[in-house]
Amino acid sequence: MSDVQTTDLALRGDNIVKRFGAVTALDGVSLTLGKGEILGILGDNGAGKSTLVKILTGFHQQTSGTLHVHGEETLLRSVDHARSLGIECVYQDLALANSLSIYHNMFLNREIVRRGPFRLVDHKQMRARAAQLLDDIGVHVPSVDLPVERLSGGQRQAIAVARAVNSNARILLLDEPLAAMGAREAALIIDLVLRLKEKGGLSIIMIMHNYAQTLDIADRIMLMQRGRVTYEARSANTSVAELMDIVRREYRAMREAAAH
Ligand SMILES: Nc1ncnc2c1ncn2[C@@H]1O[C@H](COP(=O)(O)OP(=O)(O)O)[C@@H](O)[C@H]1O
Ligand SMILES: [Mg+2]
Repeated sequence: MSDVQTTDLALRGDNIVKRFGAVTALDGVSLTLGKGEILGILGDNGAGKSTLVKILTGFHQQTSGTLHVHGEETLLRSVDHARSLGIECVYQDLALANSLSIYHNMFLNREIVRRGPFRLVDHKQMRARAAQLLDDIGVHVPSVDLPVERLSGGQRQAIAVARAVNSNARILLLDEPLAAMGAREAALIIDLVLRLKEKGGLSIIMIMHNYAQTLDIADRIMLMQRGRVTYEARSANTSVAELMDIVRREYRAMREAAAH
């Protein structure tokens, strides 16, 4: 991406290394995320994908390497710090409060409070705003009063995404948003992400498992293996067959190494 200036990028990481004691989870990862772009990250379990996401959200700090956020070199000190720069993440476990209503979850820890001496939580306004926000991004639920535990996995994921976007996210990180979902549920989330992209102003990194879904949704893909980026391409310039071939070669090399 040498033709793109750093200032045109939402995110840029250079030579990111992350060690946990003796384990090197990231071994010099460089990446770029263009403004408005969807980047799909693929790779086996243990490749370092979640670790990379956790560095980009300020949850972990890299051992070495640099990050640029919206063109400025930045050390992300904490999740709150990253959030203040517009970086939001939806993790695998979603962190929704399952027994609470949809509208409550949308405003969790950011409740709308009425003016006046008692600072009462304004349920009426939160309800109306939640319904409006979900409608805006095309997420349909029977009622925002429903407890989240009554929703399907795909709907819950949609609520978690809506909540992240609602907090003025400019960079959205999704760690395996389609994990354990059937095709219909996955389609719901894929449609939601594409609508968010169309609305503009958002750059998205998605950690994915399924090659075909990734090539459908992402502008660009990155393959990670053992803490490194081993392949990168625009989705239009690669194929499921090519990706499978790369992974198969790696797998064979590992088997041969193990046999000797
Ligand atoms: N907090 C941690 N402490 C120690 N090792 C970790 C920690 N988080 C991840 N790892 C290790 O880092 C490597 C990459 O893990 P992870 O980023 O979760 O991979 P992925 O998301 O691609 O499956 C693995 O070997 C994992 O065991
Ligand atoms: Mg992971």
